[in-house]
Amino acid sequence: MNDEDVKPNSVWTSNRFWSRSAGWVTGVSAVLLMFLTMSTLSQITMGSAKDLENKVTKRVPSASVINYKVTYEYSTKRGHEVPVIGEKEKFFGRDDYSEAEANKLLEHGKLTTQAKNCMNCHTLLGNGAYFAPDLTKAWVDPAWQEGGIMIGMTGKATKEEAMAEFLQHPDKYPSHSRRMPNLGITAEEAKATVAFLKHMSSIDTNGFPRNFNKIQGSIQK
Ligand code: HEC
Repeated sequence: MNDEDVKPNSVWTSNRFWSRSAGWVTGVSAVLLMFLTMSTLSQITMGSAKDLENKVTKRVPSASVINYKVTYEYSTKRGHEVPVIGEKEKFFGRDDYSEAEANKLLEHGKLTTQAKNCMNCHTLLGNGAYFAPDLTKAWVDPAWQEGGIMIGMTGKATKEEAMAEFLQHPDKYPSHSRRMPNLGITAEEAKATVAFLKHMSSIDTNGFPRNFNKIQGSIQK
C-alpha cells in the first residue's frame, strides 16, 4: 500500500497540506525580507556633502558633517532626542573639509577605535561594553560642552581639542571613579577619532542610547 491510497481523515494529517503551507510561508517570507532589506538600505545609506548643503536630513549624514555644528535636541513628536545639524562650525580650525578628506579622517578614526579596542570598555552604536560611558553620542555629551567638566579640565578652547587632549592623556583627567588608561594614542589618531565620534553622534539612532543626556550628564555633578 503506498501513501496515495491512504485517505487522510482531516486536512491536519495531510502531507500535501503541510508541504504546500511550508512552500507558501517560505515564499511570502522571502518577499517580505527582500522588501525590508530594500527599505532598510535606503534608510542607512550615507548622505552626501550636497545633502548637507541643501539641508536634506539623512539618518546617516555624509562624513563632511564634521564641518557643521551637531546638537542633540528633544523631539516631542518622536518622544526622544534627535541629532540636529546646524550651521557651519570649525573643526580643528577648518570648516571646509572635502567629502574625501572627511571620509579619510573617519576611516582612520574607525581603525583607531578598532586597533585600541575602545569597545572593550565603551559602547559604539550598540556594540561594546558598559564599563565606561557609551560613546555613541559622546560628542554631544553635556560634559564636553562649554562650561562642562571635561572641556574645563583640559584647559582647551574648543571641544575637539579638549577631546583629542583627553584621548591622548586620559590618565591626566580623571572624572569618574573608573579611569581610562593611557592607550598611547598619537595626535593624528586622536584627531581622527574625534572626527569619527562627531560623525557618529550625528547619526539618527532613534534615541539610542535611551536617557543619554540624563545618564551622561550626571557626571557633571
Ligand atoms: C580599559 C577601558 C577603556 C578603554 C579600552 C577605553 N576607554 Fe575611554 N574611558 C574609560 C573610562 C573608565 C572612562 C571614564 C573615565 C573618565 O572620564 O575619566 C572613559 C572615558 C572616555 C571618554 C569621555 C567620556 C565621555 O562621556 O565623553 C571618551 C571620549 C573616551 N573614553 C573615548 C575612548 C576611545 C575613543 C577609546 C579607544 C581609542 C577608549 N575610550 C578606550 C575606559 C576605557
